[in-house]
Amino acid sequence: MANEDTAPPTLDTSVPQTARIWNYLLGGKDNFAADRAVGDQILAGQPELAENARQSRAFLVRAVRWLAAEAGVRQFLDVGTGLPTANNTHQVAQSVAPESRIVYVDNDPLVLAHARALLSGTSEGVTDYVDADMHDMAHVLREAARTLDFTQPVAVLFMGVLGHVERDEEAQNMVRAALEPLPSGSYLALYDGTDTSPETVEAARIWNESAALPYHLRSPERMSRFFDGLEMIEPGLLSVTRWKPDTEAAEIDQWGGVGRKP
Ligand SMILES: C[S@@+](CC[C@H](N)C(=O)[O-])C[C@H]1O[C@@H](n2cnc3c(N)ncnc32)[C@H](O)[C@@H]1O
Repeated sequence: MANEDTAPPTLDTSVPQTARIWNYLLGGKDNFAADRAVGDQILAGQPELAENARQSRAFLVRAVRWLAAEAGVRQFLDVGTGLPTANNTHQVAQSVAPESRIVYVDNDPLVLAHARALLSGTSEGVTDYVDADMHDMAHVLREAARTLDFTQPVAVLFMGVLGHVERDEEAQNMVRAALEPLPSGSYLALYDGTDTSPETVEAARIWNESAALPYHLRSPERMSRFFDGLEMIEPGLLSVTRWKPDTEAAEIDQWGGVGRKP
C-alpha cells in the first residue's frame, strides 16, 4: 500500500486548481473540464478577465526584462510559478543575460509535472525548480540557496500569488522573510488583483466558491505595504498596464510594481 508520505503527488482533475484555471484564462491547454467550468463561469460575469490575465503576464515579462536589462539582476526567485507558457521568467531573463540563474517555486502537482519544460534554459545559466509551499519560506530559501548566491542581488517575484494568502500580516511576513537574507540591490516584483471594481469583486467571489484555493483581492493601499522599506521603482505601484508599457492600454484591476532593497 502506498505510504502517504512517500507516494507521488496525485493529480485530482475533478477539483479546479488555481494554476490550471489561470492557464485556461491565459488561453493555455494545461487544464481540465473542472478548471474550464470555473473559468467559463468567471468569464461570463467578467469577460475582460482573460485580457487581464494576459496583461498581468505581459507585466511579468516587462518587469523581468527591466530587472535583467536595466537593473543588471542575474538571479531570480519566482514564487508561484504557474504552468509554463510563452515567455517564462527564465526565457526573458536569459534572453537578456544567458548566464541568469532562476529558481521557480510552486506547490501544485501539475506545475511539478511540467517542471521539466521550465528547466530547459541556456547552457550558461541555471534553471531550477523547487516543489514547496511559500508558507514555509525558510524551506524555500534553503532550497533556493543551492542555486542562487545570496551574497549577490536576487529579484524575488510574487506574481499573482499573494492574493492566495488571506491575512495581510502573513503575506507581509512572507515577503519580508524572502528578502531578509538578500543583499542591498535585491528587488521585489509583484502583481495581484485589486478590489477596484464591483465586476472584479464578483469574479473573485465566483472563483472562491469553486476553486480549491481561494483568492483574496486587496486594495492598492493594502498592497503597497508589501513594499515597506523598499525604494519604489518608477512609475510605482499601479495598474499593470501602466507599468513601463510597450503599448497604451486601459487601467485594469490588477496592480503591480517593483521595489529595490536599499
Ligand atoms: C495565478 S497563478 C500565477 C502564475 C504566474 N506567476 C503568472 O503570473 O502567470 C498562481 C500560482 O501560485 C501557486 N501557488 C498558490 N499558492 C501557493 C503556495 N502556498 N506556495 C507556492 N505556490 C503557490 C499556484 O499553484 C499557481 O501556480
